[in-house]
Amino acid sequence: MFTADELRKKYLDFFKEKGHAIIPSASIVPENDPTTLFITAGMHPLVPYLMGEKHPQGTRLVDTQKCIRTIDIDEVGDTTHHTFFEMLGNWSLGDYFKEEAIGWSWEFLTDEKWLGLDKNRIAVSVFEGENKGTEKEIPFDSEAFGLWKDIFEENNLPAERITKLNREGNWWGPAGETGPCGPDSEMFYWVGDPAEVPDSFNDDNDLWVEIWNDVFMEYHKNEKGEYVKMEKQNVDTGMGLIRVLAAINGLDDNYKTSLFLPIIEKIEGLSGKKYGEGSDGEYIEKSEQYWVDTRKSMRIIADHINAAVFMIADGVEPGNCDRGYILRRLIRRAVRQAHVLGIEENFTVSIASVVQELYKNIFPEVLSEKIADELRKEEDKFRKSLENGLRKFEKIQGNLTGKNTFDLFQTFGFPLEMIKEEAFSRNIEFSDKEEREFEAALKKHQELSRTASAGMFKGGLADTEEKTKQLHTVAHLMLSGLRKILGEHVHQKGSNINGERVRFDFSHGKKMTDEEKKAIEKYVNEAIDAKIEVVMDEMSVDSAKEKGAEGAFENKYGDIVKVFTIKGYSTEICGGPHVGNTSEIKGNFKIKKEQSSSAGVRRIKAVLVQE
Ligand code: ALA
Repeated sequence: MFTADELRKKYLDFFKEKGHAIIPSASIVPENDPTTLFITAGMHPLVPYLMGEKHPQGTRLVDTQKCIRTIDIDEVGDTTHHTFFEMLGNWSLGDYFKEEAIGWSWEFLTDEKWLGLDKNRIAVSVFEGENKGTEKEIPFDSEAFGLWKDIFEENNLPAERITKLNREGNWWGPAGETGPCGPDSEMFYWVGDPAEVPDSFNDDNDLWVEIWNDVFMEYHKNEKGEYVKMEKQNVDTGMGLIRVLAAINGLDDNYKTSLFLPIIEKIEGLSGKKYGEGSDGEYIEKSEQYWVDTRKSMRIIADHINAAVFMIADGVEPGNCDRGYILRRLIRRAVRQAHVLGIEENFTVSIASVVQELYKNIFPEVLSEKIADELRKEEDKFRKSLENGLRKFEKIQGNLTGKNTFDLFQTFGFPLEMIKEEAFSRNIEFSDKEEREFEAALKKHQELSRTASAGMFKGGLADTEEKTKQLHTVAHLMLSGLRKILGEHVHQKGSNINGERVRFDFSHGKKMTDEEKKAIEKYVNEAIDAKIEVVMDEMSVDSAKEKGAEGAFENKYGDIVKVFTIKGYSTEICGGPHVGNTSEIKGNFKIKKEQSSSAGVRRIKAVLVQE
């Protein structure tokens, strides 16, 4: 049996042997991308480097990246969906390409020294091409196909296990509307009877489980929707740790792997129920009036608290919008499921401590004390609300209507599911008609609150937008100041700007002195006082370089870039919003914090203090 620790270590060690630098996982909260709430794939934090920014660790990288996918939250409870997962990945930033990527994938999967998987249980797919004979043609990936063919022939394996698939199956990216993308090649493992491996691969057969994806980033999708071949070709691969762990261990349930079993066992202990007991529909509940699907409830609790630990570790707090709302929903749903299992005491913290044990060596941030604090607070709050709701329920139980049960939901967070269960366990009627009324009221409420929050967002946003613009311009001034005062080795390594502050990463090997910080502040404040025009020109990347412009992450191959010039101070490529004149920057520039961000990279947090 492979454990997660072994699989992770083997993967990192293998690529280290092939000249890759092991880099730490980025936070699950994106640093440079305001368009998404969480990191959803291993390549996501590396987008700037896939677009041409130089990575301080070189051109071959490997890591295990923490990811959160919320799109599947309602699916959680089955054997394979998770909110949090780790994605193993290796990258070539303009370094090796298809031949090495495919050769190493095969070696890692099948060599006895590494995973040693049965070669006969592996199938692969490559991109079949599209729009043949038209301007929009993207050709069949004959190179990847040929490489696999050689490997399969050498090993006497049927060529029909190499399949050509269309865009849906074998194209990846871009992660957003635009960005790097390309054909990919996926590897599948047969999880059915090893004596009955089919001679050909079939996309519809669930017993072929996808275990790895090698993406060959040859194209850049631009704003016009065109695919432009990139100068430098990258490789981006993704292997979902838990999925592979289950597949290669012959497990039909991800919750039976070493990453979840200890959590499930903890929940069994707390609830006094066995995982699986009652799941097929027999009554196990005290009253024998309704049955509990222990598997589903335990999986939801395990998944949600696991994800909550990682969110809090990376700075998310329960709240009513965005990330905070998702976290709140996860914790509350776990508490609800615990109630279903009969766990009435606070339990989230004890589940979290199992998660902490599982991950502390690889992600030490899970040891943060904030985790227990936030979980305890949120659980208390929700339990109180549920108690009050229950009292209210008892008052209205003689006359349950769509309307008064909806009030129960709105005031006490009592979900429909729970209303139905409470009614059922008391033998009280809650008819379909009332349920429909409840749902209609819920829908109306959601529409109203969406409109209201859109309005609110707009109002708040105008102000935030203005401040963000000012801080974008400040970031340019700060970079030129840093280069002037610390030296020309300083380049931007990342930035994150909101209406409150700018967080800015840059290459520099040592801590800044107080004098240096003061000098930068002085430089930026002088530029603000000098009331200089901020001029924007559009030009090719080459002309921008000729002008000596500093490159930011927005460089895109073959595209026209925007260059912002603050005469005498800064020339920089940037896609961000800026003020028209430095006099529009309100306040006094101040560096609040300067610290290490990663090897050779420092991080500054700076603000505009209002006088
Ligand atoms: N970026 C690719 C994926 O997420 C590897 O599957």
